[in-house]
Amino acid sequence: MAFLAIPSLIQDLIPAASESINPWNWNLNATGLFFPTMHALSKFALLGACAVQSVMGLPDQVSRERREANLLKRSVDDWVNRETPIAWQRLLCNIGPNGCAVANQGVPAGVVVASPSRANPDYWYTWTRDAALVFKGIADAFARNYTTDLHTQLKNYVGSQAKLQGVGNPSGGLSDGQGLGEAKFMVDLKEFSGAWGRPQRDGPPLRAIALIRYAKWLVENGHKATAASQVWPTIENDLKYSAQYWNQTGFDLWEEVSGSAFFTIASTHRALIEGAQLGAVLGKPTRVYTTVAPQVLCFQQSFWNAREGFIVSNINGGEYRRGLDANSLLVAIHNFDPSAGCDANTFQPCSDKALSNHKAVVDSFRSIYNINRGIAQNKAVAVGRYSEDVYYNGNPWFLSTFAAAEQLYDALLVWKSQGSITITQTSLPFFRDQVAGATVGTHAAGSTIYNQIISAITAYADGFIEINSRYAHSNGALPEQFDRNSGAPIAAPDLTWSYSAFLTATARRDGYIPSGWGAGQATSLPSGQCQKFEIASSYSLPPTPSFPSSISPAPNAPVEQVTKVPTGCTNPEKVFVTFNQRASTQVGQVIKIVGNVPELGSWDVNKAIPLSAAGYTGSDPLWAITVPIQAGSNVQYKYFRITNGVAGVTWEGGNNRSYTVPAATCNIQQKNDNWQ
Ligand code: NOJ
Ligand code: NOJ
Repeated sequence: MAFLAIPSLIQDLIPAASESINPWNWNLNATGLFFPTMHALSKFALLGACAVQSVMGLPDQVSRERREANLLKRSVDDWVNRETPIAWQRLLCNIGPNGCAVANQGVPAGVVVASPSRANPDYWYTWTRDAALVFKGIADAFARNYTTDLHTQLKNYVGSQAKLQGVGNPSGGLSDGQGLGEAKFMVDLKEFSGAWGRPQRDGPPLRAIALIRYAKWLVENGHKATAASQVWPTIENDLKYSAQYWNQTGFDLWEEVSGSAFFTIASTHRALIEGAQLGAVLGKPTRVYTTVAPQVLCFQQSFWNAREGFIVSNINGGEYRRGLDANSLLVAIHNFDPSAGCDANTFQPCSDKALSNHKAVVDSFRSIYNINRGIAQNKAVAVGRYSEDVYYNGNPWFLSTFAAAEQLYDALLVWKSQGSITITQTSLPFFRDQVAGATVGTHAAGSTIYNQIISAITAYADGFIEINSRYAHSNGALPEQFDRNSGAPIAAPDLTWSYSAFLTATARRDGYIPSGWGAGQATSLPSGQCQKFEIASSYSLPPTPSFPSSISPAPNAPVEQVTKVPTGCTNPEKVFVTFNQRASTQVGQVIKIVGNVPELGSWDVNKAIPLSAAGYTGSDPLWAITVPIQAGSNVQYKYFRITNGVAGVTWEGGNNRSYTVPAATCNIQQKNDNWQ
């Protein structure tokens, strides 16, 4: 037995030894000598352990697979253990004011610099999206394990974003919310006035989600008043923006395609649901969010390509691409909520749609990168943004490869907690890649198929981490990308988001479940056709937050959990009125409404409400906006037109219009007008 095991043991040595020759696993030090990296070393370190197992003597075939899986697991364990403190350290290095890569360079407290790189590429800016994803990760880690340092970071983040919301920029200002859609700012929080893909509407909902995470911690630890007074005002602006502009096109998360992006829509849905949940606990109005959210979820379904079994990540723009995009992997991991099980409408990581999509997206990268060549169909490969990408010649990215792993770790957590795996026709091809004998049906824990799937997917997920470990810098530094041909780590060095992606994926690998967001209560779709009303709100600059020094965890205080999504509408103070104005316009023109009531700006044209052209077509020049107005109000109002780059406004003709808002009703009222 021991002798028989030796040939296969030697085979185990071969990949380990040849990988260590890969130049990216070796490091040229100052004296010109090569040192194997920790990754290569870890493989060698495993040999002893392996030999022991082989000598114990398992049947050949099974033992081979197990040894491979063990090798992989231990290699990944080893890298994750070494990389974790490095990732934390380097992530925090990019946050002002004291981060080691940004200190004394004018970066205020709580500002996340995307990367310290100032040229090729210049990432010396703060992006709302990157910062929010990074702080969501920090807030989850903080909630698991309180430290005063992370707490300071979170309070700083709240302060920086409260201020940033008031910074006027090329997307607009705060008065009608449009400035919140600006993608990036100078690191000192001044506007970036150069040409850019704008607006990007994922920023506000992502920031709301990050801030909500911290606010929930405050509530759950007995500091509800602080959550309400210091954090909610900033969250509220972002939720209002999400409810007002969700149906208008904007640039996707990769800042390239103007249209509707799956990531933006899904992030918006989550923010509205979770925001309503928190708002209800804080005693704030939430009807705007709960009214819009189901319609957003309804629209979210239209990204699914049922025939081919994947999410088309960009629609209403960007059709020159197939639509297979890591955008959708990021949705699966960032909208994970175990309370929703494997729900497909909210695109849970273990849903049949999300798994089918995982396969389609990962497969789209198998043949296009040289570094993926020759890797078997059931094994992990390097994952980029989308296969047609040409940015830096189109390479794999660390954060998308981590996302591919994280989705699988999420799925494993749910399967294990529910004690079964359900396979449908939709997800069967995904499972068949991993377990040839997988069949449609529900496989209970303990069954052969269940066990085979759990081990195969665990190894598959680890494989994505192993890919990143192989191409990371030997000192643990993670840039944005790695070269599609050589694997060399390239593009923006020390990308904050890359470290965050490592930390969230490996937290899931370690079994840490992020807090839920109410997805379990928000999985059902409205009956009938999706409606796309956008609800206007007024915005105001949040007061500069100031936190009592006494805030600390209160594990024994009577805690309040934020778990219930509010529903229903009874005897509302405000009636939702949709103004539909037919007005033919040209590109660069916008129709606005202003009127005598505060909700319509009290005749101040600077407080007028922009209508949305999302429903405008060649045959129906529809501009529309829904405005909550005090029930029973007598409203006088008028529309006017503004033109980009032209001073002044053009009023429609005729007298002021008038309208009496009905007494309290939960039905949305329609007011149909034509430009006069
Ligand atoms: C910079 C953006 O951040 C990146 O996503 C994009 O691919 C390039 N510009 C090219 O448009
Ligand atoms: C380019 C990416 O495409 C975009 O998503 C990101 O926000 C910026 N780089 C900054 O990291």
